Amino acid sequence: MKIDMILGLQWGDEGKGKIVDVLTRDYDVIARFQGGPNAGHTLIFDGIKHVLHTIPSGIFHDNKINVVGNGVVIDPVIFKIEIEKLKKVGVDLTDKLYISKKAHLILPTHRLIDQASELSKGSKKIGSTLKGIGPTYMDKTGRNGLRIGDLDEDDWIVKYENLTNKHLDLIRNFNVDINFDIKELSNNFFESIEHIRQVKFIDSEHFFNESLESGKKIIAEGAQGSLLDIDFGTYPYVTSSTTTAAGACTGLGIAPNKINDVIGIFKAYTTRVGSGPFPTELHDDIGKKISVVGKEFGATTGRPRRCGWLDLVTLKHSIIINGVTKLAIMKGDVLSGIEKIKICTKYNYRGKLINHLPFSLESKKLKPIYEEFDGWDDDITDLRNFNNLPKNFKNYINYIQEQLGVKIEIVSVGPDRKQTIIV
Ligand code: GDP
Ligand code: IMO
Ligand code: MG
Repeated sequence: MKIDMILGLQWGDEGKGKIVDVLTRDYDVIARFQGGPNAGHTLIFDGIKHVLHTIPSGIFHDNKINVVGNGVVIDPVIFKIEIEKLKKVGVDLTDKLYISKKAHLILPTHRLIDQASELSKGSKKIGSTLKGIGPTYMDKTGRNGLRIGDLDEDDWIVKYENLTNKHLDLIRNFNVDINFDIKELSNNFFESIEHIRQVKFIDSEHFFNESLESGKKIIAEGAQGSLLDIDFGTYPYVTSSTTTAAGACTGLGIAPNKINDVIGIFKAYTTRVGSGPFPTELHDDIGKKISVVGKEFGATTGRPRRCGWLDLVTLKHSIIINGVTKLAIMKGDVLSGIEKIKICTKYNYRGKLINHLPFSLESKKLKPIYEEFDGWDDDITDLRNFNNLPKNFKNYINYIQEQLGVKIEIVSVGPDRKQTIIV
């Protein structure tokens, strides 16, 4: 048995949570492998909307095991709230949710460092979700971090205090104005830790490999998107983890030869939340329309997402880096009613036409080159059969899959679980 994965190919928020939920019926184990509560994965079914930040998107199904892998960074305070919300809507988490002992903990001071770092950067800020992601991964690679497994040791509070004191020095050195009460933050943290102990802590790498050996099917759920990858994204305007396929190997403890399908998800247009280059960004009424119709506001921070046309240059880059074998196109319904729709196929980079990602996507050096397509007026949100989609939308899809050389196997036509066409 091999593992499949679902990865965002753009700047995040492609609809990963929705598709993981839709596909969960075909799997036994659903695993998050990187990122943390900077993620916001939205699921809608039975008229109710759920947003998950750390817990995998298979959690609403019975007889499935959801695992937070070693590559994830966990904020117990947010995790506790997630658990409580799920319990409130009747989700029984017993024997359904496990956490890797090797996953690192986000301390309250990690969040404060994030805040101080962003303030000190001024107009060059990353636009972080301020969840402490970068500082926690820095402590992980700097070999200072506190892990879930440490919570079973007697000296974990000493470790917590030592690291916190180190962080407080660091925060002072930023010389920025942030207010906090460290006692209150720590108490809240300790209380949340006791709460998350009700979830089973496991050696997840053994669990995954034994599951595969015994014939179980695993799906890995990515967070963020390939263009936010620490190596292959639009650095430094990225997140601090490996969001690409390789991240599933290190973030779960699964060997590359165990990877089967890599399902790449993208919106029928492009969005980005936070700072950084975005070649096809729209600053006109069409951009506003996409933002309003697509309800493009961050699921974690509520910030408006920047909107623009689909960009095949970035998509090709993501497909190659990840080895994508299947595609899912999301939110085509949002483009209904736009007369002419554009797709970026190349860039003019310093006077030359290129179709790969250059070192920098800075707009001063780079202009997108577009192909134009006739739009469609029909409301497609009730359609459940590919053949019934408007001709111009089918043309749009066919053009994209021809250019990308990978088949589009899922077409999402609305936010609800049911609004999904498997081609
Ligand atoms: P994720 O982070 O990749 O899981 O995506 P988010 O949940 O942050 O953002 C996707 C947003 O689009 C959510 O509000 C979803 O409910 C919504 N959504 C997902 N698929 C579709 C679709 O096909 N059409 C529309 N209109 N909304 C969708
Ligand atoms: P999901 O999983 C969209 C963005 C932030 C910021 C940059 C760095 O829901 O797709 P960080 O908090 O990691 O320091 O922020 O990355 N970002 C996301 N954008 N979707 C996400 O997750 C994101 N997680 C982080 O807006 O630009
Ligand atoms: Mg999201």
